[in-house]
Amino acid sequence: MDKIRIIGGTPLVGSIPISGAKNAALPLMTAALLTDEKLVLSNVPYLADIVTMANLLAQHGVSLSLPQGKGRSMSLDASNINNLTAPYEVVRTMRASVLVLGPLLARFGAAKVSLPGGCAIGTRPIDLHLKALEAMGAEIDLQDGYIHAKVASRLKGAVINFEKISVGATENILMAACLAEGKTVLHNAACEPEICDLAYCLQAMGAEIQGIGTDTITVTGVEALHGAHHTVIADRIEAGSFAAAAAITGGDVELLGARAEHMTAVIEKFEAAGISVSETARGLRVKCEGRIQGIDIMTAPYPGFPTDMQAQMMALLSVADGASMVTETIFENRYMHVPELTRMGANIVVHGSSAMIRGAGKLRGAEVMATDLRASVSLVIAALAAEGETLIHRVYHLDRGYERLEEKLGLCGANIERITSRQSIKTEAA
Ligand code: UD1
Repeated sequence: MDKIRIIGGTPLVGSIPISGAKNAALPLMTAALLTDEKLVLSNVPYLADIVTMANLLAQHGVSLSLPQGKGRSMSLDASNINNLTAPYEVVRTMRASVLVLGPLLARFGAAKVSLPGGCAIGTRPIDLHLKALEAMGAEIDLQDGYIHAKVASRLKGAVINFEKISVGATENILMAACLAEGKTVLHNAACEPEICDLAYCLQAMGAEIQGIGTDTITVTGVEALHGAHHTVIADRIEAGSFAAAAAITGGDVELLGARAEHMTAVIEKFEAAGISVSETARGLRVKCEGRIQGIDIMTAPYPGFPTDMQAQMMALLSVADGASMVTETIFENRYMHVPELTRMGANIVVHGSSAMIRGAGKLRGAEVMATDLRASVSLVIAALAAEGETLIHRVYHLDRGYERLEEKLGLCGANIERITSRQSIKTEAA
């Protein structure tokens, strides 16, 4: 397994191009299942999760190309679907696979999708997805670890009151509602920019959707959708992660393509911590000259502070002046980065869903283990500021969500290198 070696202490200076958003691209790829015409997506990041989704769609019968060329375009053609089963082997490796359920059921009247099972950051059930589909007339059976869903003719529009805000459930039901008979109203819908991006693409495919960007989305079902071309929005979490990397090293970095309007809560917290963030013609500039100040953060659904930025902020606050309190309200087990950051000298105490961070001033390089996607990038951020060498194991987590991470950071002066399995065997043997 590959490792990443970082020698900390160099301020990051330069510019970093921000890729297309993984969490927008994944549902957009599944939207291709809603039509027998071609969907072309541009600005799709080339990531392990995108390849996993491509493999899943290909085994359903979608013919597609992986993101290619400078525009990172991919085309998806679901005119010959020959298999309505999403198997356990794929779904267990990537939960977003469950987003094929709504589109398959809406267009073909049946789908068999593996239950995703456990996940490192929490139990993450999918009851909200299933309840809403049942309200739309689907019959759902859970057997042998699979969701068996079918509907006699077409899904029927319904009023859905989500009892909890869920990004995935909003996306699944939004897609299903596009081909349902009549009107569907989604109350307490998630409002993340990735959901708006999906809705705009569905509109370009002929869907009738109102209330995009609000917590009440109304969809009037149509008989069929058609092909379209859509460009994926910039990844606000990748941008936030590199902003934290720039800040912790006392650097000055321009994040090309980053969109401030998608990052309001994150920018507010950076500024409260004494980090300057300004909009430029090409994106956002992040600059940190003085000491970082301790602040309090509570994660919440959009437009609140994103849970996907919690670990990165914790790395940043580990070197701050004063104490910080971070409270995680979305996932119950999202502090697995804490013991690893502690190995690097961070002073963090977790009580239930809150963590108290007492700024340690300096971090020290250590051998650490990546446990999930955002936890692993928090270790990269900490390592960039730490004294000496950090070796991060299990970097396949990073490859799920960060495109060319070492190259992007390296171009801004970071001393970072990937040790591929072969090299590492040699190093270990030497
Ligand atoms: C998406 C993002 C993930 C992000 C998360 C929260 C993608 C591919 N992934 O995940 O990066 O961390 O949003 O912003 O976009 N829940 C239920 N029942 C359900 C569904 C969810 O109880 O049926 C709970 C979850 O356990 C969690 C909370 O709702 O506690 C939010 O989860 P959700 O918004 O659904 O996250 P995902 O869509 O899985």
